[in-house]
Amino acid sequence: MSDPIVERIFELKKKHNAIILSHNYQRGEIQDIADFVGDSLGLSQQAAKADADLIVFCGVHFMAETAAILCKNKTVIMPDEHAGCPMAAMITARELREKKKLYPNAKVVCYVNSTAAVKAESDICCTSSNATKIVSSIPEDEDILFVPDKSLGAYVSSCLNRKMIFWDGYCPSHHRILAEQLVKLKSEHPKAKVVVHPECTPDVISLADHVASTTGIIKYAGSNNTKEFIIGTEIGILHRLRKENPDKTFIPITPLSDCPNMKLNTLEKVMWSLEDIQYVITVPEEIATEARQAIQKMLDLS
Ligand code: 13P
Ligand code: SF4
Repeated sequence: MSDPIVERIFELKKKHNAIILSHNYQRGEIQDIADFVGDSLGLSQQAAKADADLIVFCGVHFMAETAAILCKNKTVIMPDEHAGCPMAAMITARELREKKKLYPNAKVVCYVNSTAAVKAESDICCTSSNATKIVSSIPEDEDILFVPDKSLGAYVSSCLNRKMIFWDGYCPSHHRILAEQLVKLKSEHPKAKVVVHPECTPDVISLADHVASTTGIIKYAGSNNTKEFIIGTEIGILHRLRKENPDKTFIPITPLSDCPNMKLNTLEKVMWSLEDIQYVITVPEEIATEARQAIQKMLDLS
């Protein structure tokens, strides 16, 4: 039996020439009706090339803001205006300006999980899927100030054997994943492959077989012949992993690695957002212009 809410969403989508973009951590029912489900990089690439007048962005605020910056002529809305990212809130543009005074020659590499104002103060953006590539694009003799995720920064630094200056930001959901839990699970499932997100702490990352963005985790699980996987990231990813791989088993390291902000969006709110064309995400043009440069440099290298 078809769901009247889903039917109404499709009707409104058509009326407004809208597309729905969903992050891999969204509720399963939202992922199932989206036109595209992906990681931060994939979502920004889709937004940039979308042939639509309206983008319903189901994710958190910085993701919708990035889409709004890239899509000057499209309206970007979020179903819940309170869906923020706590990590992005761990650094302000003013704080970054002060830090830059201490390292005037450093290049600022900014994780996309940040506000537009922070991006505007940065030289180049990165996501979890291209951070190593972006940092490698900066000449070896240049200092790098990496903001705001110290865990992603430490991971990139160890991959490239390159020192960087870090900000003290982190993802509360990924930091609830503990190495002790992973050690126990590995001993209970010795054949399982361990795949984690680079927002995890270095001790968790050191125990993994593979480290990747959310879409990278999905690709790895789909292409690897192993039947059992231990997953170290936000639990919303399990929906897609299980749906696309019904013959495989996925074990979260902990059910506590949930991002409550990602779960604020619901099907009803998606419908209401299309009914009322809200909440519209806008970025002041002077900030958007600066931020766009940092984002575009990243997209050009991706
Ligand atoms: P991805 O870009 O890997 O999807 O990560 C976004 C995010 O917020 C992870 O917590
Ligand atoms: Fe932010 Fe972490 Fe939630 Fe990702 S999972 S949106 S980094 S709080």
